[in-house]
Amino acid sequence: MDSGTIGRLIEAAKEVRKNAYAPFSGFKVGAAVLAGSGRIYTGVNVENSSYGLTICAERVAVFKAVSEGERVIRAVAIYTETEKPTWPCGACRQVLLEFAEDDMDVISATGDSVEVKKLSELLPEGFRFSPEGRVI
Ligand code: THU
Repeated sequence: MDSGTIGRLIEAAKEVRKNAYAPFSGFKVGAAVLAGSGRIYTGVNVENSSYGLTICAERVAVFKAVSEGERVIRAVAIYTETEKPTWPCGACRQVLLEFAEDDMDVISATGDSVEVKKLSELLPEGFRFSPEGRVI
């Protein structure tokens, strides 16, 4: 992934983080995914008074992309204001894997620091079905 694209994804995640709805945890997260078409889709965490209904920023971004017709996610960037980078939770890793073509870059940024990992590092031996319905 070229540094220009990484920069654009981080900027989009940082900008959208302002819309995070996190009145219960106070932990605001912004995410941006690069989809197969080349478009960028953003998401924020949306919490709920019934805490378990909360959805993470990463899944909001993926679901926005898929509902617009995308079927491939090439990269995801997460932006938080924390001491160390934030990596996607287990549920989001599984949802990202569903739309990963080969593997994908997972970028985490906070302040001036940026780290990049592969989804396969974060979710080794991940579970998914092939389009024919077999486990691959
Ligand atoms: N959260 C995300 O949106 N993404 C992550 O990668 C980690 C957790 C949200 C969910 C919840 O609103 C808050 O952060 C605290 O868990």
